[in-house]
Amino acid sequence: MSKAIRIDKHGGPEELKLVDVQVGDPGPGEIRIRHKAVGLNFIDCYHRSGLYQMPMPLQLGMEASGIVEAVGTGVTHLKAGDRAAYASQPPGSYCEVRVMPAKTVCKLPDAIDFDTGAAMMLKGLTAQYLLKRTQPQGGLREGDFVLFHAAAGGVGLIACQWAKAMGLQLIGTAGSDAKCALAKEHGAAHAVNYTTEDFTARVKEITGGRGVKVVYDSVGKDTWDKSLDCLQPFGLMASFGAASGPPAPFAVGVLAPKGSLYVTRQTLFTHIATREATQEMANDLFEAVTSGKVRIRIDQRYPLEQVQQAHRDLEARKTTGSTILTL
Ligand SMILES: NC(=O)c1ccc[n+]([C@@H]2O[C@H](COP(=O)([O-])OP(=O)(O)OC[C@H]3O[C@@H](n4cnc5c(N)ncnc54)[C@H](OP(=O)(O)O)[C@@H]3O)[C@@H](O)[C@H]2O)c1
Repeated sequence: MSKAIRIDKHGGPEELKLVDVQVGDPGPGEIRIRHKAVGLNFIDCYHRSGLYQMPMPLQLGMEASGIVEAVGTGVTHLKAGDRAAYASQPPGSYCEVRVMPAKTVCKLPDAIDFDTGAAMMLKGLTAQYLLKRTQPQGGLREGDFVLFHAAAGGVGLIACQWAKAMGLQLIGTAGSDAKCALAKEHGAAHAVNYTTEDFTARVKEITGGRGVKVVYDSVGKDTWDKSLDCLQPFGLMASFGAASGPPAPFAVGVLAPKGSLYVTRQTLFTHIATREATQEMANDLFEAVTSGKVRIRIDQRYPLEQVQQAHRDLEARKTTGSTILTL
């Protein structure tokens, strides 16, 4: 048996219920993992609220670390007793122990503790694929400007540090002056409080009127239109989330006069579709963390039983950096 957090229908944080679930043995290609810590992510709120419609009942959660207890046939990269961490579909990480596909579970280097492992896989692999695999035509070079919204959040603070290590000038936006200061402390070259300042005007000012090569936008509805105006000709609008709600539908024709812009909607799960790709990206992330280039900042910890409060705080923009659920 395992304690787990489940919803029976989409709705607010009050739908998150603590239940006992039966956990069996892993089948072919699966493992059973006993968690040490669980990562909280904004996607969990979309799964809960119904912005992403999911089959019910649903055990939530996409990220955790722990110890492998058993492996099914065909699993060769893990064995019982291994320390491991993952960002993965299907949801179900809000629990003590679970059976899940082994494909995206990676061995956790000894130098990385379990709390950090649970706080970094989904957010760190996202920062990895955004900065390294979601680039404009011609790629990104040292000194290039990029705009990254919600820069003091979980993905944001990792991206600030990694962008700096890549030599990029990341302009971060955030919802308060304190969050802007945090983004700068973590490597953002500039930070703009988008609740009090016109971020398009500030981006133009910072870049000498040129604009940025890429906008990484996870805020969505509130930032979409103005973000397009921050781009250089041939610039890339990389949408990867909808914290304020999904952007309104738009006419593709608007991209022409703004400078033949490119638009993409990215998701981590396309990038980690295979074991090989997941491990390659995870190796890059592990190197970034163990070398000290990227420090994983855990600013909030909630016992699993207090997951409702964790969701409330995340959605109320009260959190910074990563959040974990403790067991
Ligand atoms: N597509 C993918 O592969 C992928 C993977 C991981 C994450 N994501 C997306 O990346 C974003 C960051 O994820 P995270 O887990 O690290 O969360 P987070 O950034 O720690 O939290 C979300 C942040 O969004 C900002 N925000 C702006 N408007 C908001 C609103 N109306 N309501 C709530 N928050 C608002 C807030 O920061 P300010 O107060 O500074 O504005 C808030 O702290 C999320 O949108 C998530 O869905 C996408």
